[in-house]
Amino acid sequence: MRILVIGSGGREHALAWKLSQSPRVRAVLCAPGNGGIARIARCIPVNPQDAAALSRLVQEEKIDFAVVGPEAPLASGLVDALQATGVGVLGPTKNAAQLESSKVFAKDFMRRHGIPTADYTTYRDPDSALAYLESSDARYPLVVKADGLAAGKGVVVARNEQEACHAVRRMMMEKEFGSAGDRVLIEDCLRGVEASYIVFTDGDTILPAAASRDHKAVFDGDKGPNTGGMGTYSTDDILGPNLEREVLETVIRPAVDGMRREGTPFRGILYAGLMLTEQGVRVLEFNVRMGDPECQVILPRLQSDFAELCAALCRGRLRDYRAEWNPGAAVCVVLASGGYPGSYTKGKAISGLDMAEEDSRVAVFHAGTRLESDRLVTDGGRVLGVTAVERDLASAIMAAYEAVNKISFEGMQYRRDIGAKGLK
Ligand code: AMP
Ligand code: GLY
Repeated sequence: MRILVIGSGGREHALAWKLSQSPRVRAVLCAPGNGGIARIARCIPVNPQDAAALSRLVQEEKIDFAVVGPEAPLASGLVDALQATGVGVLGPTKNAAQLESSKVFAKDFMRRHGIPTADYTTYRDPDSALAYLESSDARYPLVVKADGLAAGKGVVVARNEQEACHAVRRMMMEKEFGSAGDRVLIEDCLRGVEASYIVFTDGDTILPAAASRDHKAVFDGDKGPNTGGMGTYSTDDILGPNLEREVLETVIRPAVDGMRREGTPFRGILYAGLMLTEQGVRVLEFNVRMGDPECQVILPRLQSDFAELCAALCRGRLRDYRAEWNPGAAVCVVLASGGYPGSYTKGKAISGLDMAEEDSRVAVFHAGTRLESDRLVTDGGRVLGVTAVERDLASAIMAAYEAVNKISFEGMQYRRDIGAKGLK
């Protein structure tokens, strides 16, 4: 098999890493990739938003299937363009990707199909949103969400009227996220613990991945502003068998069947961001792709052949595939540039990677790195994801931080409590 991975982050490094372990894979290409991906795949400098160039690439390189990592090209219809060339694609069409690209679409879809989620109202103009927020009907805290993609920054949990009105003005009047703020949702604030539940589906068969948990805030103890994700862990008891059954029956199955019945079958990776509340499971959001850095703990726990999984999914034959998962635990600690998620400087030399990777339990995934004449330097906010797989969570945490301690670059920051929530 010849496979093209599209994207340039830690998620795409993990995808390329797992695919390249398959004896059936002859070549992994990545567009555009990064400094770490370049060591295991052929990186080609094509922008993921350039559907015409990618369509030519899959034909010229005789690609069997392409895996699309990030949400932006999915939202703008890359899968539709690639499918028109006849190549297999792992990822949803533009219409199906609306489950992530429009929060209004996703919430209305959930309402139509009885999928449990927070109550909400959609607003098309700022005056009516502000009038509601200033009325006695508004119950704080509440959540203000921009409809469209906003790189994880379009959600504000507002403690009071002032914060909520400020969010609406930024989204709808100052257009901080462009057209993503044409509509906003105002929804009830849920309390509980979050979990990421990710499945593979060919539009019919559902193959659950190991459950995982992200750490979105930049500082220990979930303090500070939200980021793309500062670390993840995966164990079987994040949900446990009963909750997992509830999620499959009340969320995933109705979502997959609902999309198919509405004429927009969902093929690819479906990610439900969940809040586990005292009243039961609620969906915070759907994503239409692997999580990042969830991918960096999920794929290391997959024991079976990932290329065969992807090939089966693209052929619509996922039912023929049997997945085996490592029963232990995986932890991924993200090493970020100083200042992230605010402004930061790039180009800092990275040292200690070879030493960290000597440990057979450890894999280091590159999120934002670049090769500068054979020297690896930082090239993004999130720089590396250090993953360790072990027999239990405590050992995985120890192994991951042992590896982290060997790596350094100027300004390096990371959370010291990744996985601690799972130690009880
Ligand atoms: P989303 O992008 O919709 O997942 O939102 C990002 C983050 O905002 C989530 O991971 C939650 O921490 C928080 N969030 C979103 N919706 C709600 C809600 N209804 N209640 C409480 N927190 C929420
Ligand atoms: N880690 C959260 C996400 O990928 O959306």
